[in-house]
Amino acid sequence: MNAEEIIQNEKDYVLGVFGRPPFVLTEGKGTTVYDSAGNGYLDLVAGIAVNVLGYGDAEVEQAIKEAASTGMYHTSNLYHTEPHTKLAKKLCETSFADKVHYCLCGASANEGAFKFARRYAREHGHEDKWEILAFSDAFHGRLFGALAATPREKYQQPFEPLMPGVRFADFNDLDDARAKMSDKVCAIIVEPIQGEGGINPATPEFLSGLRALADEYGALLIFDEVQCGLGRSGDLWAYQGYGVEPDILSAAKPLAGGLPMGAILMKQKVADTIHPGDHASTFAGNPFTTHVACTVVDRVAQPSFLADVKEKGQYLMELLAELNSPHILEIRGAGLIVGIELDIDANPIVEKGYEAGMLLLSAGEKIVRFVPPLTISKEELALAVSKLGAILQEL
Ligand SMILES: Cc1ncc(COP(=O)(O)O)c(C=O)c1O
Repeated sequence: MNAEEIIQNEKDYVLGVFGRPPFVLTEGKGTTVYDSAGNGYLDLVAGIAVNVLGYGDAEVEQAIKEAASTGMYHTSNLYHTEPHTKLAKKLCETSFADKVHYCLCGASANEGAFKFARRYAREHGHEDKWEILAFSDAFHGRLFGALAATPREKYQQPFEPLMPGVRFADFNDLDDARAKMSDKVCAIIVEPIQGEGGINPATPEFLSGLRALADEYGALLIFDEVQCGLGRSGDLWAYQGYGVEPDILSAAKPLAGGLPMGAILMKQKVADTIHPGDHASTFAGNPFTTHVACTVVDRVAQPSFLADVKEKGQYLMELLAELNSPHILEIRGAGLIVGIELDIDANPIVEKGYEAGMLLLSAGEKIVRFVPPLTISKEELALAVSKLGAILQEL
């Protein structure tokens, strides 16, 4: 099929839940993706913070080959496999966690976390402790439970009723969180750095205040690190940059190098309250994805890899500041999750980016987001910023 036919077939056969630009991507190499006409686009999106090692990484490709060479045996949740166990050990050894449960995506990681929090409360004798405290501008996914904790009318209203019992406080407002807290809340869920909501880093006081609040009320603290975790912030896990530990952490996007996968990391006290049959999913933690994920985690967890992300993040911030564009109101983020708040609509900039050979993404109406492969070079960052500068000037 040529590009026109592919786009027409998509219109005819694929559910139209997303608007897409008028080109067809066919491959990626390094930090650049190519369309069917051979045009290259420097990728500042990485499939929305997914491909942390870029495209065509030799070790990821090798891991995929090894996994494929086993004949695609599949175990559901029934049998022991080595990659499944190895990955869990790596995740625990590099985080606060004592146990891992696998799932399929970010939303299912958060929903599993909610189930575990309710289970934890019940096991401690609190039958009426099942509510969740979440925050303004949060994004936790689009399944019924995760959506209930994602306070955007446009996403929620057409699908109501959602999971009941979610209350909201203002992000980074500890007084409001305290005011909304109650004995009925079994878990507080928060993104240490909000992604979809506009790249809003939590303040250290906010996260440590939530830790204290959760402890005071016997609730669990869940960090949603689906977007900001696994090296993106310059720490392996974003919470490590804050020095505040959660009881449960949800991870997904980058975990298996572009293959669909999520994981729920938890402390032993949570694991102790979960029993056989409580939660599972046919494809979760399958030997193929967990084998590839071992490679991703090994690479990203290297101190030198993380130091490089921090350095490049700093460099990116400096370059953006040097643009001195009157349209830029604020530059914020950590590592290579960076938001540029503008006084104008972000979508036309994303579109101009295509013409300039660059993939950009918005995060909210007036925020341009950079979440590139973490392997992006300084030269590529400089190129991206100069292209963005030219677009801003043109507008
Ligand atoms: C912080 C956060 N949580 C959860 C999700 C949902 O993940 P998924 O789309 O894999 O269900 C996302 C997706 O963007 C996210 O950014």
